[in-house]
Amino acid sequence: MSKNAKLLKIIRDHAGEEPVKLGLILGSGLGHLAGAVEGVAIPYSELPGFPHAGVSGHNPNLVIGTLEGVRVAVFGGRAHYYERGKPDEMRIPLEVLCELGADTVIATNAAGSLRPDMPTGSIMALTDHINFSGLNPLIGEPSDKRFVPMMDAYEPELREKLLFAAAYEEVSLHQGIYAWYSGPSFETPAEIRAIRTLGADAVGMSTVPEVILARFLGLRAAAISTITNMAAGMSDEAISHEHTKAMAPLGAAKLEKVLRRFLRDF
Ligand code: HPA
Repeated sequence: MSKNAKLLKIIRDHAGEEPVKLGLILGSGLGHLAGAVEGVAIPYSELPGFPHAGVSGHNPNLVIGTLEGVRVAVFGGRAHYYERGKPDEMRIPLEVLCELGADTVIATNAAGSLRPDMPTGSIMALTDHINFSGLNPLIGEPSDKRFVPMMDAYEPELREKLLFAAAYEEVSLHQGIYAWYSGPSFETPAEIRAIRTLGADAVGMSTVPEVILARFLGLRAAAISTITNMAAGMSDEAISHEHTKAMAPLGAAKLEKVLRRFLRDF
């Protein structure tokens, strides 16, 4: 029996047996997308092992239902490493996603931009990442499966489909490299200059551990950032969590258009 059997039973009691095709993880200020799903919302508090998602701007529910005709599981909030110092906080939710039948996960996040041509309100498909935190959600995993290859971790075919959906909707979808910084303090301007030199286009406090876990579990992965600010030292714009939440809706409308179109053809 799966170690998540209890969780799966609770979820199926709410949402029925129909398998899920795709998981969607919603970042800061993007929680409203969960409301677009026709289905049931299960509070994380009813799901043992799910994160408490104590960050404001997140919506701690697992929503299972249909979006643009596709059976999806939407994680309205994620746990971040900086909450409890555990990089594998999203392992159980992602295991459950696999066990519900999904083979694909799309992570979304709010991020700071390191590129002047990618201002606040832009959206960016991740082509790759830099694990600037040095942490890893697979530390302690005993099986040899832990040696996960990370070539094409952000699957090119999925990204092509997202780019196609964006072009169809006449939404500009940038592409770039995301650097994971542990948070919760924001970066210093010197750190931003350093990661820009290393090749990053955007910076944020999530997504990388989830994509490592997704690849470990055999899920196909894609990720999209919504740019909520220019990174530290790049402009005079304020940087704060309040600002992140206030600016997320600018990119969220674009993101929703792209995701809906992507799902219609999924
Ligand atoms: N840095 C890290 N995380 C973020 C930022 C940022 O500038 N903006 C939104 N999330």
